[in-house]
Amino acid sequence: MEEYLLEFEDVYYTYVGAKKAALNGLNLKIPKHKKSALIGQNGCGKTTFFLLSNALYKPQKGNISWRGKSVKYDSSSLQKLRQQVGLVFQDPEQQLVAATVEEDISYGLCNLGLPHLEIAQRVAAILLEFGLTELAQKPVHHLSLGQKKRVSIADVMVLEPELILLDEPTAYLDRLHTRNLIKTLINIHSSGKTILMATHDFDLVYRWADWVFVMDEGKLIIEGTPEYIFNQRELLAELQLDVPLIHEIYSTEVSQEEQIFLERLQKRILNLRKF
Ligand SMILES: Nc1ncnc2c1ncn2[C@@H]1O[C@H](COP(=O)(O)OP(=O)(O)OP(=O)(O)O)[C@@H](O)[C@H]1O
Ligand SMILES: [Mg+2]
Repeated sequence: MEEYLLEFEDVYYTYVGAKKAALNGLNLKIPKHKKSALIGQNGCGKTTFFLLSNALYKPQKGNISWRGKSVKYDSSSLQKLRQQVGLVFQDPEQQLVAATVEEDISYGLCNLGLPHLEIAQRVAAILLEFGLTELAQKPVHHLSLGQKKRVSIADVMVLEPELILLDEPTAYLDRLHTRNLIKTLINIHSSGKTILMATHDFDLVYRWADWVFVMDEGKLIIEGTPEYIFNQRELLAELQLDVPLIHEIYSTEVSQEEQIFLERLQKRILNLRKF
């Protein structure tokens, strides 16, 4: 039977002064050990969903549970929840707290009161993984946007949370760092973690995700495998969402010659899927 980590049941959330609910009866369950993607138009509620997932905001109606138990909002429960649910913010500026890159990445581990040696080892390993070793002593406010984004992802990864929520992690990243990030996410997933990523990069969704959630106007509209979701062409068109180019090519009617060519192409793309 499928196991779920975080479950939203009929959750409502409206920002102060807003006319419309940002989450409007959201039902969404994050399956354990999967690499899930969350897609939907600008303003459909993805970031709001993440902010409630990490208990930064509280639902005004409905229930959120973690491993089958309703989330509690006292400070000790919140601290425990946030050790298990790591959130990488859409805007890296919101994540960075310390003066230098190294201090920023150490911050969460210091708060956990871990021994100095362990902190130093974990920070050094994550700096290396994210290609940040040379920037370790640099002030965070002197970094480029892409570098800030990488530090903000490293800040969360170093804490090794069980569920990793990434709000548009590849925004601002170049091709090399996107590929490196995806490799890291694949490794982390193989070590038993669960990942949910919001993104507008549908080619990435198609290649990376096991499961896809589609939101619209604060609700979950549909969920399924990437193949299943990207076959819902009418629905996607209604939601103004594209189909990934690779999927588009496969599902077009073709001649026999083209079919042979496509099968070859498919093999190459499946190799690409390995990143
Ligand atoms: N701080 C806020 N105050 C008032 N309204 C807000 C606030 N933050 C978001 N909203 C509104 O809530 C709705 C959902 O926004 P949210 O940021 O969750 O969307 P999103 O799906 O993450 O969009 P994007 O793809 O642009 O990141 C939008 O209508 C937005 O205008
Ligand atoms: Mg957002």
